[in-house]
Amino acid sequence: MSHYFLGISAYYHDSAAALLMDGEILAAAQEERFTRKKHDPSFPSNAAKYVLAEAGITRLDELQAVAFYDKPWLKFERLLETYHAFAPKGMRSFLSAIPVWVKEKLFMRNLLKVELGRIAPGTARLLFPEHHLSHAASAFYPSPFEEAAILTIDGVGEWATATIGHGKSNRIKILRQLDFPHSVGLLYSAFTFYCGFKVNSGEYKLMGLAPYGNAKSDQVRTYEHKIRDELVDIRPDGSMLLNMAYFNFATGLTMCHEAKWQELFGFPRREPASELTQPYMDLALAIQQVTEDIVLRLCKTARELTGADRLVLAGGVSLNCVSNGKILRSGAFKDIWIQPASGDAGGALGAAYAAWHIWKGEERRVNLGSDAMNGAYLGPEFSAADILRTARRHQAPFREYSGSDELCRDVAAMLATGCVIGWFQGRMEFGPRALGNRSILGDPRNPDMQKKLNLKIKFREGFRPFAPAVLEEDSSAYFELDRPSPYMLLVAPVQKSRSIPLPENYNQQGMWEKLYQLRSDIPAVTHVDYSARIQTVSKRENTNFWQLIRAFKEQTGYGLVVNTSFNVRGEPIVCTPEDAYRCFMRTEMDFLVMGNYLFAKPDQPAWKDDDDWQSRIEPD
Ligand SMILES: [Fe+2]
Repeated sequence: MSHYFLGISAYYHDSAAALLMDGEILAAAQEERFTRKKHDPSFPSNAAKYVLAEAGITRLDELQAVAFYDKPWLKFERLLETYHAFAPKGMRSFLSAIPVWVKEKLFMRNLLKVELGRIAPGTARLLFPEHHLSHAASAFYPSPFEEAAILTIDGVGEWATATIGHGKSNRIKILRQLDFPHSVGLLYSAFTFYCGFKVNSGEYKLMGLAPYGNAKSDQVRTYEHKIRDELVDIRPDGSMLLNMAYFNFATGLTMCHEAKWQELFGFPRREPASELTQPYMDLALAIQQVTEDIVLRLCKTARELTGADRLVLAGGVSLNCVSNGKILRSGAFKDIWIQPASGDAGGALGAAYAAWHIWKGEERRVNLGSDAMNGAYLGPEFSAADILRTARRHQAPFREYSGSDELCRDVAAMLATGCVIGWFQGRMEFGPRALGNRSILGDPRNPDMQKKLNLKIKFREGFRPFAPAVLEEDSSAYFELDRPSPYMLLVAPVQKSRSIPLPENYNQQGMWEKLYQLRSDIPAVTHVDYSARIQTVSKRENTNFWQLIRAFKEQTGYGLVVNTSFNVRGEPIVCTPEDAYRCFMRTEMDFLVMGNYLFAKPDQPAWKDDDDWQSRIEPD
């Protein structure tokens, strides 16, 4: 009889469910994809129903256990102690937080039982592995390494904000822990807030903004010194102390004391959605550099403490792919592996793994050379009948292809003429990135592609870069990267040989000029600092997507495409054919491919929205 473990993360942000069968991942998905609420924190009923259905499980008794990704009691203790330590400050937020805690979160066991009872009849044993152990388990157990140092860094779990651990066969030992309020993730989030982006989701934007900072300027150096002198004391081993006089997150409802920051840096917090000016770009670069310094020190300590020459990473900060690239190039480890769902969604997977290997003590089978994530293609898949039902509902004309060869050839030709394609195939990705199954694609050679995608398709800030999906075997022809990066979690320089001279009258003053400079022959995926966030695509992991890029190469000589997630700003990545068709019709995408069906925009009936989706687009 098979053993099933359901992992759940919920009630903070990015709720998710994951299911293990005898230690293998059967399915995993984030709740936001089903409810269409970005970063949905509610109990993942839809995601849990989906993963159970994948295994044909109809009763909770069929599960060995349900593992929740943190320990509510410890979190409550942290909350109480923090308010006590900072009292009488924070009384207002204390009074608003405590009733919710007592009513809902403290009695998590009961709450979870009620929610699970709504999904299926029967009862299941509940387990509560710690938050950072869940992250550590999500990083180590599915990795391709028998032994590894483990680094987890995020905002905060119960008490821990970062841990260093050692994983060997089926065991994980946590060796060091950094505790709240001293947190790399919260430090980075405070700058996200100060630069006018949304905390917990805008961190990516801050990272994308950093390369617009002027690295050689005195400003960046000055800001970095101010951060190190006033905001954070960084020790040689990577542990750090925040100067809490500047931060408000422990007791207040915002991240930092704005007046003090304004005095320190000399300019106010940026109003969300207002113009991005040079000081914010320079500040973004300064905090990126400080963060990288802390992370690299933690890596060095992890290496010394464990003696392991491989490193695995998880926790929200591991989604900072610029710092991941630096870890790789630092040479501290022979190889690194990063959990693609590194944020709290991945905690669901880690909690289930912790239950299987630690609580149940089951052996771990390592598949050397490849990880256990199935390319992160762990979500729902839809049949031809599902796609045809959507087409019928909207009376949408389409062309059916009999095989993928001809389809890929035609789609590649459309890409090469500047068309933007919605590409919907197979199982949905788990984690924040679309990896070729729920993607929007374009031609990386096209200098106007970045602007077109940002402004006409994604309705998002023009400065944000796009990522290349490149044939794994061709990757080193374009990028200075000597290994696969299947999850788009490594940033590396574009090969110097790709550079082309700037126009003579080129002026590098403004942001837009910087963005549209023609510095490489793949400008749509070359960021302003001549780097790229790379996804390598192998035939083994995604045959369909590989075949399409291969067809593009046959026609153009270039073995890569622009790959961005299939959604518009403020919306989760599409899940169903219905979501995909709606997104296609609401944007200036030229073609939509779902399975073997091609939908051309000019052939579609006029689109009338039945829902006020634009009101959901959050300001940056
Ligand atoms: Fe976390």
